[in-house]
Amino acid sequence: MNDLIEQYRVQQPPYYRHVADEVEIFESAYRVRMPMMLKGPTGCGKTRFVEYMAWKLGKPLITVACNEDMTASDLVGRYLLDAQGTRWQDGPLAIAARLGAICYLDEVVEARQDTTVVIHPLTDSRRMLPLEKKGEIIHAHPDFHLVISYNPGYQNLMKDLKQSTKQRFGALDFNYPDAAIESEIIATESGVAPEAAAKLVSIAERARNLKGHGLDEGISTRMLVHAGSMIAEGVDPVKACRVALVRPITDDPDMRDALDAAVTTFF
Ligand SMILES: Nc1ncnc2c1ncn2[C@@H]1O[C@H](COP(=O)(O)OP(=O)(O)O)[C@@H](O)[C@H]1O
Ligand SMILES: [Mg+2]
Repeated sequence: MNDLIEQYRVQQPPYYRHVADEVEIFESAYRVRMPMMLKGPTGCGKTRFVEYMAWKLGKPLITVACNEDMTASDLVGRYLLDAQGTRWQDGPLAIAARLGAICYLDEVVEARQDTTVVIHPLTDSRRMLPLEKKGEIIHAHPDFHLVISYNPGYQNLMKDLKQSTKQRFGALDFNYPDAAIESEIIATESGVAPEAAAKLVSIAERARNLKGHGLDEGISTRMLVHAGSMIAEGVDPVKACRVALVRPITDDPDMRDALDAAVTTFF
């Protein structure tokens, strides 16, 4: 059991730049064991934040990337057949509940609604997880905490969270940080010079204004870190921006040209 905990421990302190009071809020939510929902666009720092909080709170972290093929058994556990016969294997949610880990269900709307309901008994005062096939009920370890992330931009009627699921969580809004903070993050993460980091953020601001006007999603902090890393590694900034910022987010030639023009304005 101790080996298992060590396996999920966040070893190094993750670099996380506080943006507002999210760290204090999360600590309070953890103290009262209020399940938390992190809302915001892809690549804006949600996963990094959870890693940082797990490290700060000294708790193991078990992350599950949710997808539409995921079943309740993938979360809870299943019987496996091996040479000795059948053997029960706990899923990540069961492991987290037993160990007292923070369980992070990333992009939870991707999972089907019948899968999401398995978290219900864990997220109210019962704090338990029935393993129906095994005939066991796990009473969650006092340290267990559930965190989910969710990108409201992708939400459609078929793929929204049920109200009965949403209302079990407190929610924190995440977004791309203010320009000065985002530049600092990019310079720290990628090693690019602060002036270049600031230019990258200016390019991203242009692209973010085009969201809903031909772009589904703006350029994320993650993409800026990629571009910064290439520049720091010696790649020509214009080329780095094309590869890391422009080409990934659009297939439309006019949009591509408009964004390429924004790149050459700054570099
Ligand atoms: N506040 C922050 N502090 C440090 N790094 C950040 C921050 N926000 C974003 N990043 C950087 O952006 C990258 C993407 O963030 P991530 O947490 O993976 O996004 P999300 O989970 O929201 O999709 C991280 O790997 C990190 O380099
Ligand atoms: Mg993430």
